[in-house]
Amino acid sequence: MILVTGGAGFIGSNFVLHWLAGGRGPVVNLDKLTYAGNAENLAAAREDPRHVFVRGDIADGGTVRRLLDAHRPAAVVNFAAESHVDRSIHGPAAFVRTNIVGTYELLEAVRHYWTALPPRERESFRFLHVSSDEVYGSLETHEPAFTEARAYAPNSPYAASKAASDHLVRAYHHTWGLPTLTTNCSNNYGPRQFPEKLIPLVIVNAVHGRSLPVYGDGGNVRDWLYVADHCSALLRVLEAGRPGEVYNIGGSAERTNLQVVHALAGILDELRPDRAPHARLITHVADRPGHDRRYAMDTRKLESGTGWRPVEAFETGLRKTVAWYLDNMDWVGNVTSGEYRKWVDLNYGGR
Ligand code: NAD
Ligand code: TYD
Repeated sequence: MILVTGGAGFIGSNFVLHWLAGGRGPVVNLDKLTYAGNAENLAAAREDPRHVFVRGDIADGGTVRRLLDAHRPAAVVNFAAESHVDRSIHGPAAFVRTNIVGTYELLEAVRHYWTALPPRERESFRFLHVSSDEVYGSLETHEPAFTEARAYAPNSPYAASKAASDHLVRAYHHTWGLPTLTTNCSNNYGPRQFPEKLIPLVIVNAVHGRSLPVYGDGGNVRDWLYVADHCSALLRVLEAGRPGEVYNIGGSAERTNLQVVHALAGILDELRPDRAPHARLITHVADRPGHDRRYAMDTRKLESGTGWRPVEAFETGLRKTVAWYLDNMDWVGNVTSGEYRKWVDLNYGGR
């Protein structure tokens, strides 16, 4: 039995389904169902008695304590967060509340639960905190990829709130010995990512014949990882990671945003030739304030410590992702009604 938080979002839902598909034990899934969380993401687990969904907030310590006492998990995996940099620029308060205060409340509840466990369960318990490469700040073109020893230098309110949560996790290990694991992962892509992030936004806009907005010169670099590879890395860290340690996760697939958008346009040209060339929709728009130029992850510690390797190449993962969105336009329609339109107006209207 494990407790997952944020398991109705993009990575969390992929992880829960991956976990269940592997024939493992039950999962209690605590999710607030913000705009980014969607019960439909877990449709494949609807009939599975091992999946228990609870709508609730990680910042509500009472709820978390009740769940821990009732289900007695062997591990907690924390995905719950506000996750979009652009939203953190328009409204940082929710990021401070969930990512910092929420992680603190979760850690407090877990610490009390863990302290009272019998010795063997106490020993094997793990708190896995899912974090981001953005805590390290921005790399120059010729710098080597981030290692776990890199000093934190978060630049957006999102990155700062994730950095703060990482520091709290570190302190709970150092002060009380809580068996924590922290993973810092690069940009993910794949099925069920909310279409506010670059890759699904471009696919959805292209399908509707809308412009494909590229911030600034499009030369910013991200290190892309297919979400299933992130899930397999998290499993390896749970199984073989050393308590108190931090592991970087990445796809070793650095691409500029323009390369990503052109690759998507090319795949769409093949799958939807009537609309080709999709690249004609690319539009350069005003840059994101404080836009980090480049992220890249050095994953040698994870690979040597756990034997993990990513299996998906960027090109094949991107093709699978485009195919998933084209096959699931009902899902897209459901998540892009109402609040989403307001977000699009707010973020793109004045650019
Ligand atoms: P997401 O925005 O798709 O999903 C977040 C989920 O958390 C949603 O289901 C939402 O309802 C839930 N949630 C938000 N606030 C909550 C609260 N207070 N209590 C309970 N649930 C709450 O995010 P994602 O892309 O799946 O990211 C998951 C985690 O991975 C985040 O911690 C994020 O910082 C981290 N991460 C994401 C990426 C990426 O590329 N997406 C990369 C590295 C790390
Ligand atoms: P995003 O998917 O928001 O992830 P992050 O900011 O966490 O890296 O953005 C990925 C890159 O794409 C980033 O450099 C910003 C850029 N971008 C655009 O150019 N246009 C867009 O509409 C969006 C959402 C992002």
